[in-house]
Amino acid sequence: MARLLFEAVSKHFDQAVAVEDLNLEVEDGELLVLLGPSGCGKTTALRMVAGLEDATSGSIWIGDRIVNDVEPKDRDVAMVFQSYALYPHMTVAKNIEFPLRQRGVERPERERMVRETAETLGLSSFLDRRPGQLSGGQRQRVALARAIVRSPQAFLMDEPLSNLDATLRTQTRADIVTLQQRLGTTTLYVTHDQVEAMTMGHRIAVMNAGVLQQVARPQEIYEWPANVFVAGFIGNPGMNLLAGEVSGDGARALRMEAGALAIPEQMPLSPGGRVVAGFRPEAVAIDPDGGGVAASVSIVELLGSEVHVVATVGSSRVVVRQELSQPRPAIGAAIRLRIDERAVHFFDAVTGERIAGPGNAAADGPRW
Ligand SMILES: Nc1ncnc2c1ncn2[C@@H]1O[C@H](COP(=O)(O)OP(=O)(O)OP(=O)(O)O)[C@@H](O)[C@H]1O
Ligand SMILES: [Mg+2]
Repeated sequence: MARLLFEAVSKHFDQAVAVEDLNLEVEDGELLVLLGPSGCGKTTALRMVAGLEDATSGSIWIGDRIVNDVEPKDRDVAMVFQSYALYPHMTVAKNIEFPLRQRGVERPERERMVRETAETLGLSSFLDRRPGQLSGGQRQRVALARAIVRSPQAFLMDEPLSNLDATLRTQTRADIVTLQQRLGTTTLYVTHDQVEAMTMGHRIAVMNAGVLQQVARPQEIYEWPANVFVAGFIGNPGMNLLAGEVSGDGARALRMEAGALAIPEQMPLSPGGRVVAGFRPEAVAIDPDGGGVAASVSIVELLGSEVHVVATVGSSRVVVRQELSQPRPAIGAAIRLRIDERAVHFFDAVTGERIAGPGNAAADGPRW
């Protein structure tokens, strides 16, 4: 086992910047999830650790050595891909055994290790089948077995669950968490699925356009997003974001296109400052008494256990999460929205950085 470390790592493809000045440590034994939208550089970052891609600059560490110039096969990491990447003409047993053969492990030892690993992953009765005779979930378990069989220093997983249906994905997600906990192997896990990130990661590293945005525990990322991007990306749906200007006349109010919002006393905002107010869909409600911010209803989504009312506020979109029992507005109706001011986060409109918010990390100190 070993830590993984990116030290000022960049990767440029011709003109395109895939990863820019990445500084990130996956601690020994940790499962760190690298999360971000399509094209943000997740796979590239992972491939640089595996040695499948060269860094343009910076150092990549596995354990206590810099591996930039180490051959992929000598890096002692195992990768699991979305596409399984199994050998179709080999049986499950041969697929799992493959990395052991490559390393010259003796046959009796190989057979024992394959048997044990297959048992761990519930594959014992499939050892003689070929990948084509397995379901997607079983194939992915074979790929996991092949990765764990040789006890590498680290696992690198690139969206390993995205080809599975919803039920199987939930199941396999739990299996990977349990396996990682038991083996204690340092794991860098790439996904664009925030539910996977929230449920699996000891910590989450959020990336956007090649740049690391925030690294923190899942709940911390949810409660204290470091900037506008993370606020809008995390949560389903993400945080509502409305731009405004802090009143210049000393009143503690945020003036917005469609109305005003009171600013709680403890929020350190400068008069006249341009900020973005962020609030989660559960921190806003339709106000039957006509207070708050003017909005019009554009979509009403019934999700079985709750309702999302999507409203237009000025030129922005605000999602209101409602209980099933609450009255549902008609599409096109003019409504007023009451925002729970104690639950509003403020971001600098220019830099996007967090300024203040509920349970502000700067004011309260870390909670863990
Ligand atoms: N071989 C390449 N040549 C040129 N550009 C590349 C190459 N590989 C990746 N890129 C670019 O680098 C950026 C990051 O790609 P990457 O595959 O790392 O994204 P990703 O976060 O894994 O996305 P996804 O979630 O879609 O898998 C993208 O803009 C991509 O087009
Ligand atoms: Mg990718």
